[in-house]
Amino acid sequence: MAKLKLVHRCSECGATFPKWSGKCLACNSWNSLVEDVEGPEDSLVSLAAGLALVPPGEATHIGDVNPHQSDPVATGIGELDRVLGGGLVPGSVTLLGGEPGIGKSTLLLQLLAGAPGQSLYVTAEESAQQVRLRADRLGAVSPNLWLLPEMSMPNIIAAIDKISPSLVVIDSIQTVVDPELGSSPGSVVQVRGCAHRLVQEAKRRNISIVIVGHVTKEGGLAGPRVLEHVVDTVLSFEGERHHALRMLRASKHRFGPTAELGLFEMTETGLTGVPDASQLFLTDRRTGVPGSVVVPTIEGQRPLLVELQTLTNPVNTAVPARRSAQGVDQGRLSMLLAVLERRARVSLAGHEVYASVVGGVKLTEPGADLGLCLALVSAITNVPLPADLVVMGEVGLAGEVRQVGHLARRLNEASRLGFTQAIVPASAPNIETGCTVRRASTLNEAINLAGLSSQA
Ligand code: TYD
Ligand code: MG
Repeated sequence: MAKLKLVHRCSECGATFPKWSGKCLACNSWNSLVEDVEGPEDSLVSLAAGLALVPPGEATHIGDVNPHQSDPVATGIGELDRVLGGGLVPGSVTLLGGEPGIGKSTLLLQLLAGAPGQSLYVTAEESAQQVRLRADRLGAVSPNLWLLPEMSMPNIIAAIDKISPSLVVIDSIQTVVDPELGSSPGSVVQVRGCAHRLVQEAKRRNISIVIVGHVTKEGGLAGPRVLEHVVDTVLSFEGERHHALRMLRASKHRFGPTAELGLFEMTETGLTGVPDASQLFLTDRRTGVPGSVVVPTIEGQRPLLVELQTLTNPVNTAVPARRSAQGVDQGRLSMLLAVLERRARVSLAGHEVYASVVGGVKLTEPGADLGLCLALVSAITNVPLPADLVVMGEVGLAGEVRQVGHLARRLNEASRLGFTQAIVPASAPNIETGCTVRRASTLNEAINLAGLSSQA
């Protein structure tokens, strides 16, 4: 019989190496390698056990397949349904990842309490009393919600057999163990083995299972990355601890698009959806400050107005001045600084440059380029942009202003929130909107339109 081989597996990306090292050579994460075993027995045992559970498959004509078998069932939590494209699909497994303390257990307790049919909350971290106290606060003491403080997989399966729930939450995958698998809780072998088992159970019973996976920066726990290909949907719950805002995104979703963003606010009584996100992001905005601009972006189907702030500060140093980007891509910032210098003769050499998106939002689309450029010119010239102005457009290396998608939706959102002027790409289509639209084909034209030219 072939022997088991000791390997070192990256808990972030799952790559294996014969030797331990401080850095994963595949994904470059630090301190993420943990001991693991690899070998035919490992895969054969779990494969055989898994196959025994699944009924034999039969080939059917594609036309005979019922496309509505995997229709999502609404959870009743609007922002979650938005991200999931309607709700949870029966027979599917969803992984909810996020840093400890971000609100994963809170969100799922709210989900369980509102679920149609029986639901089961397996708490392998907190005691039943702790969960009950929290449920009291959240108004989640539902007659259909069962609570199981348990860490052992066989007992969890037995409880599912007994209760026949339509929704099961496992909190968290890092603390459940399957004694058959050996190895300690939280190891890659356990985490992956238990997740495989849960996927089989979900498919066999046609129920939805949500598993919680803590993400730690230190990589001490087997990260949810090793599970990404095992589950159907991967959600990540993000936000800043000191901020009440929480963002939910799907990084993988077998049943729909992954572009939607869910927004929640952590309150005294749990998480509440934020339907008017633009309003929230602009609440603390101070107008008349140089370096700041409002940019309409699109997250999935939803337009979102966010404030982008920049600060420049002259420094007398021989080493290159600092460039810091938060919520915008560092490489994009460097590129735009170069374009500003070469195409618009705005030099920020000898200045520290800070760019940050308010509210912990990440701007990933190039449509924010022009806004960022104008904010930087405003910062260096110390001239504020008009308070009622929004800016959108991608900036190319030639200093040209390029089209952005969904212009009408962006402009309508800006107009709804009281903005009256917009600088848009010259090639933009004609749109009926409450804003006065000004068109720029180059960065220089945009700088002129924004009233920054004389100083730049
Ligand atoms: P929790 O759901 O336990 O996080 P996770 O499961 O991701 O580790 O959330 C913990 C934090 O949320 C904790 O710091 C307290 C806060 N919280 C509220 O602000 N309001 C609430 O109603 C609840 C239940 C928690
Ligand atoms: Mg928790």
